[in-house]
Amino acid sequence: MTNLRKEFRVQLPLAKIRQHVDNYNRLADDANWNRFKSLHWNELKPELLTQGQKDAVVFVTYVEDHLPGYFAEYQSLFPIEAKTKEEAMHNRELFHFTVRWGLEEDRHAQALALYQYHAGIEPDRDRLEEKLIIENRKPFSIGFSNPVQVFTYTLLQEKATQLYYQSLSRVVKEPVLNRLLIYLTKDESRHFGFFCDMVDTFIETFGEKVLPLVEDVTLNYKMPLHNTMHDYRRKAILMAREAPGYDRMLPQKVLMRQLRRTGERLAELSRPIEDSISRMMTALRISNIEGVA
Ligand SMILES: [Fe+2]
Ligand SMILES: [Fe+2]
Repeated sequence: MTNLRKEFRVQLPLAKIRQHVDNYNRLADDANWNRFKSLHWNELKPELLTQGQKDAVVFVTYVEDHLPGYFAEYQSLFPIEAKTKEEAMHNRELFHFTVRWGLEEDRHAQALALYQYHAGIEPDRDRLEEKLIIENRKPFSIGFSNPVQVFTYTLLQEKATQLYYQSLSRVVKEPVLNRLLIYLTKDESRHFGFFCDMVDTFIETFGEKVLPLVEDVTLNYKMPLHNTMHDYRRKAILMAREAPGYDRMLPQKVLMRQLRRTGERLAELSRPIEDSISRMMTALRISNIEGVA
């Protein structure tokens, strides 16, 4: 697949990326909550948290707190000091999104850390930050550099976090965490929407050549920190148990369902898209994507 990644490298035309970034920020600039004031710590009832839920909060705090790594990766993949003026203009446009998205992800990380502190999961603020920085200092790579693959990867990651928070919020009885999970779900859902529009536009603009690139990411998708966090696999299994209805293959299924919709909209691409979906379903042993949101 390595050759494939190098062979067909394209970026969206400026007008299209601008349209998606404008649409995103038009919504996001109004979608604010305050990490210090919107959560009412005096209403906290930590006794309603199970140990599993506390561990789940700790785990997702690590994932969100890796934001400096995610952000740096975007900055290095889409630099303003690009080779050509066109690329620089594209990257500057994308930066309007990246910086806003980064702010929102950083708010997630800090709100979760503040929750850990106020709920007594880690009552020592310095020790909490020390634990976080240990994971934060570990290197991170998306594993892809072709723009459509970077966006497909992030699409899956955004969907995974959205679905996880949503599923967890259905069983959490502690009211402040419940409220926080609802804020997080809304933000992640908006992030997913952006990346979905981006990938959809790549297919619409460049046609079926994009499909093997999307497929490559879907088949090789791994969550961030899977290769750096100690005991990741066991922790990931335990955290999934805390969120009934969460299925680790759901993001991939949602992506395939989305591709099918694109195929329904763009009749000339419907056949290659369906072929691509079939290959992915076989490789991932997925039997059904109907009924997936
Ligand atoms: Fe997040
Ligand atoms: Fe997100």
